[in-house]
Amino acid sequence: MKTLNLIIEDHQEKLYLKIANAIRKAIESGTVTPAEQLPSARSLAEQLAVNRHTIMAAYNELIAQGWVETKQRQGYWVAQVLPIYCSLENKVKQQGNTNKHNWRVIKSNQEEFSRPANDYAFNFAGGNPDIELFPFNEFRGFINEALNRPAIKELNYGENSGYSEFINQVSTYLRRVRSIKDKEIIVVNGSQEALYILSQVLIKAGDKVAVENLGYRPAWAALRNAGAELMGINQTEQGIDVDEFEYLIQQHNIKLLYLTPLHQYPTTTTLSTEKRVKIYQLAQQYNIPIIEDDYDHEYHYNSQPLPPMAANDPSGLVIYLSSFSKIMFPGIRLGIVAVDKELAPHIVSYRTLMNHKANVLQQDAISRWMKDGGFERHLRKSTRRYQKRRECMVAVLNSFINDGIKIKFTNPKGGMALWIDVGQQAMEIAELAKSKGIFLLAENAFHLHQENNENRFIRLGFAGQSEEKIKQGLMLLKPLLIHCNR
Ligand SMILES: Cc1ncc(COP(=O)(O)O)c(C=O)c1O
Repeated sequence: MKTLNLIIEDHQEKLYLKIANAIRKAIESGTVTPAEQLPSARSLAEQLAVNRHTIMAAYNELIAQGWVETKQRQGYWVAQVLPIYCSLENKVKQQGNTNKHNWRVIKSNQEEFSRPANDYAFNFAGGNPDIELFPFNEFRGFINEALNRPAIKELNYGENSGYSEFINQVSTYLRRVRSIKDKEIIVVNGSQEALYILSQVLIKAGDKVAVENLGYRPAWAALRNAGAELMGINQTEQGIDVDEFEYLIQQHNIKLLYLTPLHQYPTTTTLSTEKRVKIYQLAQQYNIPIIEDDYDHEYHYNSQPLPPMAANDPSGLVIYLSSFSKIMFPGIRLGIVAVDKELAPHIVSYRTLMNHKANVLQQDAISRWMKDGGFERHLRKSTRRYQKRRECMVAVLNSFINDGIKIKFTNPKGGMALWIDVGQQAMEIAELAKSKGIFLLAENAFHLHQENNENRFIRLGFAGQSEEKIKQGLMLLKPLLIHCNR
């Protein structure tokens, strides 16, 4: 039942006219807008405690004046074209006054993260899952269960680290599949929320934070927003240059390290065991927390991947992040922080400032899905699909190499994207590709600083679209690779 807030004036007039007058004023002031449906005569009559015929008379009066329309007796709508130029919006336009408040904005996000990739016929964005593979029907059953047997107590305000049964399921999963134990689990609305909270909790203005260069801009933005000064560490083929990290520590009093060790973002390299050991040692010696962003751990194709750094964390300094954006879809907004028990309450209490309750209904449905085994079934199925897509992309690119196109890449053991050396003009390729309906990113999108950079690599995601689309998109890209490669 629609409600409409009306101010009925108290003067000597028939009631239906006073009501008609009040509805007209609601239209004039923009409370209801052209083409918007109005409450039915019955519901407005109930709301105003008057007879339904009085409301019908008021509506008929407004129809006669051109303010209201009725469609085959299905109800009443505000007229599409109003009898006079009168809505609030139009009044403002007439006065030419579009910015009368002059807001005093103290802090705003200077970074742009528009993600326009969905608008392209061929979407090679690196981290996109194929959402059509998600078993929506199966999952509906678990949402229904969560509604049929709701966790009444937990749905109310209270505990804010996540729904207890979901935390149980996630802890078991992380222990069994990723060997993560002895950490406290906090559920967040996606890894980005965790990155924001961690930046606020661990960083003060002017602190130096070491990050991978090339790397993940949204994480940098959260850190910078907290006042961090970012110090880039260059990549080698086995992950970050650890000597450079040590040098930075000695020169700059580094307060935090942000890493994507399993499939480095964007280069896809895996941080070697030797480098991990050295990083643990340095972190322990200088008491530097490490944020380990394990955003696509699920997808590995040839053998078991290295366990996360958080699994063998001698000093407890690793803060582990995992996301459901790749396993389910980004719109689920769900992420996990696994962290030392002493740090956990600080994260939860800071999160309470932003949001003082987890989405228990959603987590209830997912924990039922996990308990049933559906979650891991979906993972196995999508991993098999993504493996085929990776093989398809690799085969097409190898055929390009056979045709004399000078590109180089290593086939990653996991993840969702390839990192391809096109020799030169990577940025130009990405730009020209757009005019052919192809979205891809070149290495400039991942540089910490924009000046004096190389322009050699493009990143091609293989998970998010079918093999057919991969082939078609790459065939369209081929002439650009030839053209820019000469
Ligand atoms: C490096 C990295 N971390 C995290 C994420 C996931 O972020 P979120 O969980 O906020 O969707 C992504 C997704 O693109 C990513 O590339």
